[in-house]
Amino acid sequence: MTVTGACAVEKIDLIIDTDPGADDVVALLFALASPQELNVRALTTVAGNVPLDKTSRNARLAREWAGREDVPVYAGASKPMLRTPIYAADVHGQEGLSGVPVYEPSQGLAQGHAIDYLIDTLKAARPKSITIAILGPQTNLALALTREPGIVQGIKEVVIMGGAHFNGGNITPVAEFNLFADPQAAEVVLNSGVRLIYLSLDVTHKILTSDERLKRIAALNSNASKLVVDILNDYIKADMESYGIAGGPVHDAAVIAYLLRPQMFSGREVNLVIDSREGPTFGQTIVDWYDRLKAPKNAFWVESADAQGFFDLLTERLARLK
Ligand code: BDR
Ligand code: CA
Repeated sequence: MTVTGACAVEKIDLIIDTDPGADDVVALLFALASPQELNVRALTTVAGNVPLDKTSRNARLAREWAGREDVPVYAGASKPMLRTPIYAADVHGQEGLSGVPVYEPSQGLAQGHAIDYLIDTLKAARPKSITIAILGPQTNLALALTREPGIVQGIKEVVIMGGAHFNGGNITPVAEFNLFADPQAAEVVLNSGVRLIYLSLDVTHKILTSDERLKRIAALNSNASKLVVDILNDYIKADMESYGIAGGPVHDAAVIAYLLRPQMFSGREVNLVIDSREGPTFGQTIVDWYDRLKAPKNAFWVESADAQGFFDLLTERLARLK
């Protein structure tokens, strides 16, 4: 428990599972710049936007750029549970990060596999004490839950970037990349009964960059702010072109904003079904937004956000980095 001024603030004990990825790196800088609220215990990496060696290197780069080498990085699953691996180098570049120099960071990976780390940490945790942010395919947590279902005891909630309902998909007409990359894993996590919060394309496409928003970050004039602006300028091009919009979403960073300021977001408890059958709806998230089926609610589906509040908070936090 940390005491700030008159009110006591309970820090969020957090594990971030990620596949960096341009927007993942922005999310990691955002989280690692927020130690007053977020006790980031570890980053765990997964294959997703690019293969595992590159996502693991990029996670270590983000940690280095944030000056947070105290946070261990554990490498996890190198492929999805069942399906053939897919990547998104067309959006994130061959290295998973473009617009900035990519190199081998000074600090290596932590010893041990991310899945063992998750199992050991969650088994030993106080009941419902650890939050897991998942910014990529859900393979690592699904494999950990499959091996040791009892680890749900340590999980407070899982906050996920993934899925699409009202917005439609970004990889097929109905599927979003993280769900399409490993829908069987997402089903395991959903069926585990843990509390799930989904930030899908429905909300991330309402939080778009603008020249003004990027200019404010650039004006911080720090190494971190330059990196973020260079990464985003490159990353947003694909979405701006494909959707014909004036700015681009920073998907994964929405999860960090949600953890820091949930009051900036709104949504509802829904029944969620994930389609993992081969066919045109593979990877779709089916959301019973209007409660047609009167089926049990198994996820909180975030649908809207205070976009300016998001960029104000991101800018404020990046100002804390060098
Ligand atoms: C999600 O897919 C990835 O390419 C991004 O990093 C983000 O997690 C958006 O669909
Ligand atoms: Ca990601």
